[in-house]
This record gives sequence, C-alpha cells and structure tokens, in this order.
Amino acid sequence: MKIGIDDIGLSVPQHFFALEELAERHGIDPQKYLVGIGQEFMAVPAPDEDIVTLAANAALPLLDDASRASIATVILATESGIDQSKAAGLFVHSLLGLRADCRVVEFKQACYGATAGLQMARALVAQRPHEKVLVIATDIARYEQNSEGECTQGAGAVAMIVAENPRLLELHPHQGRYSLDVSDFWRPNLRSTALVDGKLSIEVYLESLRNAWQSYRADGGLGLEDMSFLCFHQPFTKMAKKAFSVFEAIEPEAAKALGEKAYSTSQLYGKAIGNCYTASLYIALLSLLDNSDEDLTGRNIGLFSYGSGSVGEFFSATVVPGYQAHSRRKAHARMLASRTRLGHEQYSNWFYGDNHPAVADYSTPYVTGGAFRYGGCEGYRRQYESTALSLKMAS
Ligand code: COA
Repeated sequence: MKIGIDDIGLSVPQHFFALEELAERHGIDPQKYLVGIGQEFMAVPAPDEDIVTLAANAALPLLDDASRASIATVILATESGIDQSKAAGLFVHSLLGLRADCRVVEFKQACYGATAGLQMARALVAQRPHEKVLVIATDIARYEQNSEGECTQGAGAVAMIVAENPRLLELHPHQGRYSLDVSDFWRPNLRSTALVDGKLSIEVYLESLRNAWQSYRADGGLGLEDMSFLCFHQPFTKMAKKAFSVFEAIEPEAAKALGEKAYSTSQLYGKAIGNCYTASLYIALLSLLDNSDEDLTGRNIGLFSYGSGSVGEFFSATVVPGYQAHSRRKAHARMLASRTRLGHEQYSNWFYGDNHPAVADYSTPYVTGGAFRYGGCEGYRRQYESTALSLKMAS
C-alpha cells in the first residue's frame, strides 16, 4: 500500500523584519546573520494572528467537500501551545468546518512533533485507507529580545493531508529514531520565550542526526547514494550545511556526488521566513518541491527531523509522478512576495509587546489579511473568527 503526502500548503504572517536591520540594532556585522546564520528575514505575526490562525490558513486551500468528508483525524503539532489543556487543533477543526466524527489531538516535542504526527497519520491510513489525516505543524519561534536566539525567530505553518495513493510524496516505511534527555532548548510553563543553550543544541542536533541515520540504515533504509535530496530541520538555514557535513564525514563519496545542491533549494523559504519550529523541516521540503527547476519525479528525498530535548528521526520519501499538477508554488510565491516589511519599533511591539495579556478579557486590533483572525479573550476563552477572505474563498 502506498501512503504519503497527498497535499501540502504553507501559511506565513503577512509581515516580516529584515535581519540586516536587527544586526544594525545589535551593532554587529550583518554578514553574521545573512551568511553566518543564513537568514535574511523573520516572519512576524500580527497581534490578531497566532498558531491557530496560521494553521487554519495553511489548511484551508487544501480543503474541498471530498477532503472535508474524508479527514477523520487532525494532528496539530506545536511548541507554542495556546492552552495547557485544550488542543489548539479543536479551534482549527471548527474554523475549517471539518466533520464532527473526527479525532483531534495536539503533539508536542519541541520542533519534532509534526514528524511524530506524520508517522501516526501513516499508521492510521494503513489501518483505515478510506480515511485521511490532516497533519499541521504551526509555530511562532520566540526568544528573549537581544538574546543570541533573536536572529533565529520566525513564524509559519505547514498543513499536510496524508492519504493512500498520495499525489505528491510516498513515505517509505523505514524509520531511524534517536532520543536523549538533554536540556539544550526548553520553555518552562508561564514563559513565552524559549530558553536555549545554542551551542549545545547544535552539538546535540548533529549527534542526533548521526544516530538517527544509523538507526534508519539498520531499519533497511536507503543508502545515501540512492537519495537525490536531503531536507533537514532548519532552525536557521546554515544548520543544513552543518547537517550535511555529518554525511561528508561518514559517507564521503556519496556526499561528494550529491554536493551542496542536495540541500540548497530547501533553504530558500527558510531564509525568508525564519525558524518555525515544528514547521521548519516541512518548509524545507516545500521549498525544494516548489523551487526546484528539475523534474523530481521518482527522486528519493531523505528527511531529518530534530526537536531539542531531544528526539531526532530520519525518514525518506519518493516524489510521485504527476506531482507538479498539484503544486501550490504560485500561491506560495504570491504569499511571500506580498508581505510588508516592518521597522524595528513595530516588530518589537508585535513580537515583545503585551498584545495577549494574561487577563480574562481583551480584544486584539484588526490587522491580518488572512482568512482567520484571533480576536482576543472573553472570560479567558479564546475567540477566533473568519474574515472576509475566508468567506470569499468559500463562495
Ligand atoms: N560574517 C560571516 N559569518 C560570521 C560573521 C561575519 N561577520 N560573524 C560570525 N559569523 C559566523 C560564525 O563563524 C558562525 O558560523 P559557524 O557556526 O559556521 O562557525 C555563525 O556566524 C554564528 O556565529 P556564532 O558566534 O556561533 O553565533 P552566536 O553565538 O550568536 O549563536 C546560535 C548562534 C545559532 C547558537 C544562536 O543564534 C542560537 O542560540 N539560536 C537558537 C538555537 C538554535 O537555533 N539552535 C539550533 C539547533 S536546534
């Protein structure tokens, strides 16, 4: 049975901040961010956007009557959860008008959660092939202002429909997993910004990749020479180069044959969006599918997912014939090209201001041009609404 990604969509906030300007504020050489970290812009959510609106915006274009009727599970993965108890996916399920006999659950493991979601989706489809699973990775990456992590912030969501006989990517059965209890990045309850030991997180990421690769090979996975592309979790896009250096050390001949082009196309979206935690790997995958000028039909892609704390997983997929007909690349290009650049003050107010205060009742200003917006809280109950855009898309 062939199971995999049948459709995939991206959503990013409509505003961004340039890292060149952040470097100026920090009084450092912009080349450190542009080249050393490999980031140009960070996506900045408006006060009426959050992980729910990003998730719903990413999934909406994937839905028609048939897919709405066949989605039996929604798995939303996030590091930036909005409630200690209720799954954020329930708001998304409601905004998208999905059927009531559907299970909805939230997955958490730093940046790794969506990969667990994808594997669970694969198993569910194997069990019940007439049903589909909607997996959404959605996050706002937020570090303390003026910290080393600030340049690696970002926001965005990727929605994927997992189904039998997928139209885009067939997932392979082989899995390489590696878990290690380590404090390289974490966010204690009541903190809105993550704590991170950046250098340690890079070390553990690379160790996790080495071990997950070995585990994948031991599980019967493809050799590096059978792969055409590699997509890595990219908290900042330079990380893909660091990850590739693991293969240069352990599989030098195959890595040399692949060269930098194995991962360079997968870096394009990440450079313009920034870290999106759970969504970052899938943004790398979309970047490759949307921007490659080669015909990818039948080509194998290796993927490495990493979530600090830590869990790593290596898996692979083959691009399905006819995938181009189902690409959303034009819509994604339009979305990125139509964004508005923010100055430092506005970025700072939106990322670090008290836009979502810890009080029972507040409302947010109307800013977003997306299909859904976060309106604030009433008695601590989060309020979401459809905008004119979603009504237009539905008609
Ligand atoms: N021109 C070009 N490159 C420059 C430069 C300049 N003027 N100045 C510095 N660099 C390079 C450095 O050589 C380094 O490259 P390398 O890693 O290939 O050696 C890179 O820029 C980063 O410099 P560094 O001094 O290590 O940055 P930092 O101490 O500010 O920390 C992170 C960088 C990524 C650790 C930090 O941003 C962070 O903690 N991020 C959040 C956590 C994270 O993303 N972890 C990843 C794994 S999950």
